[in-house]
Amino acid sequence: MIQVKPNIAAMSPYSPPWSNMERKGYLRLDLNEYTQDPPEHVITALKAYIDENRIQMYPEYSRFLSKLSLYAGVNEDHLIVTNGSDQAIEIILRAFLGYGDAMVIAQPGFPIFEQVAGVIGAKICGVSYDQNLSGFPYNEFVKAINPETKLIVIINPDNPTGVAVSLSQIQKILDENPDIPVIVDEAYFEYTGITSLDFLETHPNLIITRTFSKAFAMAGLRLGYIIAHPDIISQFYKIRGPFDVNNCATLVAETQMDFPDAWKGYVHEVMNVSKPRLERFFDENDVRYYPGAAQFMLVQPQDRDGAVQYLKDHGILVRPMVAELIRHTFRMNIGTLEQTEQFIEVYKAFIEA
Ligand SMILES: Cc1ncc(COP(=O)(O)O)c(C=O)c1O
Repeated sequence: MIQVKPNIAAMSPYSPPWSNMERKGYLRLDLNEYTQDPPEHVITALKAYIDENRIQMYPEYSRFLSKLSLYAGVNEDHLIVTNGSDQAIEIILRAFLGYGDAMVIAQPGFPIFEQVAGVIGAKICGVSYDQNLSGFPYNEFVKAINPETKLIVIINPDNPTGVAVSLSQIQKILDENPDIPVIVDEAYFEYTGITSLDFLETHPNLIITRTFSKAFAMAGLRLGYIIAHPDIISQFYKIRGPFDVNNCATLVAETQMDFPDAWKGYVHEVMNVSKPRLERFFDENDVRYYPGAAQFMLVQPQDRDGAVQYLKDHGILVRPMVAELIRHTFRMNIGTLEQTEQFIEVYKAFIEA
């Protein structure tokens, strides 16, 4: 029997729950997606793409990159577009890590980092959050960085814990490790408004990843990007395939950047109306939760599995966590106020049942 590399054989597959299920009819709070239908201008742009008869052509990215450059506030040579930020992560890890090299990351973190490191055969130096998820474990994290470290990963804010890292701590890590690449994953940037971008000019070891999957309602189209020093970006172009990102995705992203009111209005409602409403509900009903910095949170019911199943039976998907530290929680993302009221009604019935 043929064998894959031993480090791959030793891994478990990354398979989100419900991933092989039709999720369409549910209120989907399980994958941190945009929770509404995409706005009308997105559908119009997709139809125009088909009408322009472009599917048979390989993609090209010039117009998109110039718009992205304006949106992100950096020159185009600081950008590379990727097939979701999953691919951004894969490209960066492949560029910097070899077999046995060490990557420092706070745990639990976004699982793709560990999946790709596992495929490469890199060593994961995990630094655990504390049980109360009270903050980024800065002291332990910097202690874990040593001469073997070839890559530092900061997820800001972290998924699944929601914990944010202060910009001053990120700056110190960048300052103190000028020869080690530091990824700052900003998948939730549109929800937090917080970015490390200002450090880029002074810290060429900084590499930022972002995505169009969350606030831009594009998870199914797979579009992300990397912001870094041009010398590093040009290396990444050697790893990414020339046509890895489809033109349908870049076209929709362009229209989303052209019509910011729709997604900004959604983000405002989620963060400033819906999230406080949900927190109030949990507070009033003595439900333990970890609010986090972005549009998702961990919830810790007495009977976690019962809660997840009850919600599912009543049309709402949330994500039971598997990492040891948070095994007693589920993660849910927050949608519109109407969707939050729907969640509250069902959860209330679960508590009272
Ligand atoms: C922290 C973080 N990084 C990266 C991603 C990947 O996003 P995508 O590949 O859809 O761009 C996610 C998705 O949930 C995430 O939470």
